Amino acid sequence: EAAPYVPALVVGTGYGAAVTALRLGAAGIRTTMIEMGQLWNTAGKDGKVFCSTLNPDRRSMWFQRRTKAPLDTFLWLDVVNRDLGTPYAGILDRIDFPNMGVYVGRGVGGGSLVNGGMAPTPQRAYFEKMLPQVDADAMYKRYFPLARRMLGVNAIDPRYLEQTPVYKYARVSRRHAHQAGFRTSVVPNVYDFNYLRREEKKQVPRSALAGEVIYGNNHGKQSLDKTYLADALGTGNVTIRTLTRVTTIRKQGKGYLVGLEQIDAWGKVIRRSEISCSSLFLGAGSIGTTELLLRARETGTLPDLPAAIGNGWGTNGNVMTARANHLWDPTGTLQSTIPTLAIDNWNDPKHPSFAEIAPLPVGLETWASLYLAITVNPERGRFTYNHHTDRADLHWSAGQSTPSLRSAQFLFDKINKAIGTTYRRDLFTGNRAFAADFCYHPLGGALLGKATDNYGRVRNHPGLYVTDSSLIPGSLGVNPFVTITALAERNIAHVLASDLKRR
Ligand code: FDA
Repeated sequence: EAAPYVPALVVGTGYGAAVTALRLGAAGIRTTMIEMGQLWNTAGKDGKVFCSTLNPDRRSMWFQRRTKAPLDTFLWLDVVNRDLGTPYAGILDRIDFPNMGVYVGRGVGGGSLVNGGMAPTPQRAYFEKMLPQVDADAMYKRYFPLARRMLGVNAIDPRYLEQTPVYKYARVSRRHAHQAGFRTSVVPNVYDFNYLRREEKKQVPRSALAGEVIYGNNHGKQSLDKTYLADALGTGNVTIRTLTRVTTIRKQGKGYLVGLEQIDAWGKVIRRSEISCSSLFLGAGSIGTTELLLRARETGTLPDLPAAIGNGWGTNGNVMTARANHLWDPTGTLQSTIPTLAIDNWNDPKHPSFAEIAPLPVGLETWASLYLAITVNPERGRFTYNHHTDRADLHWSAGQSTPSLRSAQFLFDKINKAIGTTYRRDLFTGNRAFAADFCYHPLGGALLGKATDNYGRVRNHPGLYVTDSSLIPGSLGVNPFVTITALAERNIAHVLASDLKRR
């Protein structure tokens, strides 16, 4: 029996995938999206679709028995993580490699469901350095503005930022940074700041003010299911299959034959099948896309895939750290989970960093200032295919995080010195002040211009494309989704005009 056919198949439903599906659908091309996670649209017993960070339940994590939160302890106590019972297809995954844990979103909307919504555009000079082959004029004049508009990026009202108690934590950290001689900047977001103001006044149900973020936001956040994916479905040409994982890719005629595995929400395989397509777009994220390509190359289903696949992976220099404030400098008991300020030391020639001022929304005064710093780290990891586990292994040594740690330490040592404060060592196991052993911003694995041509076409494989964060060489200097979106817009515009015009 022949496998069903669809002209275009898109793997994943994150940023790269959502952009691609919308543009294909709008061009009249029938498109199927395959997503391994759930469609998050059904309320649980508590009447909510998503659970909060303070009270995680089975919805929180992708097939875990216990949550794996980025901060694992509080006052050195194991009070942060919770047992979850039977493993379930929850929303946040943490993929653990020997020296690196990578957080990713699972569900229709990918990372947009779990992320902090921060939507900065990279500094043009650094973007040009990282992606020199991309026409920066076209990006900065056309595709970045398009991405920001489509994603619903908005800025906080400066007067509100200055007076609201929910950003006291941000203002405290900003004052400390300024006292140490650093600049700060306001970072735009896709969380609707008008909604946030109404939350504060208790006019609408609370989400950013109810500790919701990494396990999903019930309100306020314009995640991809509300933007690109809604528009894609609206074309009438796009359908999404959920709880279905793409396992294999092989060549069939002029197109591709893709293996699928459908599970129920408890992980039981209910169906294995195949689907064929003329054009195959990979948007499974840095790890997902790289793994699919490596598996195809190493198991011989696409043996001629480029040798460059698996190379050029980085953490965007992610480091998390926290400072202990003086007792007269409280950060507030009601904190918005949506960050809005960053310490911008990016132009420092020796220790560039861009540190997001993060909340610690635990509902009581912690006197802690938390940060997620993005630093320059020239180290790159590499993926290889593991025949025993059928998974991609990441080769990243603990020492490769050292450049990130150095830049972050430079910044926060200076702030601590100026303010007379110290680090919080109770938040990460092992008494550590810094954590560079996990990341939120995995980038690379199938680099633009190396594994693919300059528009994401996989070399020597007509009809096979990469659309997502795996194209970006390990570092961007800011939170990445606006760039992933804009690059996907640029690539699909070119591909539609030149490869798919007369279908
Ligand atoms: P993305 O990871 O979004 O989507 C890939 C999708 O493919 C997922 O839905 C996955 O389930 C699916 N998939 C994978 N393999 C598959 C397979 N074999 N078959 C079927 N489906 C498959 N960025 C930012 O700019 N601002 C921010 O504030 C933050 N904050 C943040 C917080 C947290 C907690 C995280 C985890 C991440 C962030 N990020 C962020 C990062 C941002 O979310 C991330 O860079 C993008 O989501 C990556 O987009 P992609 O399109 O590459 O894939």
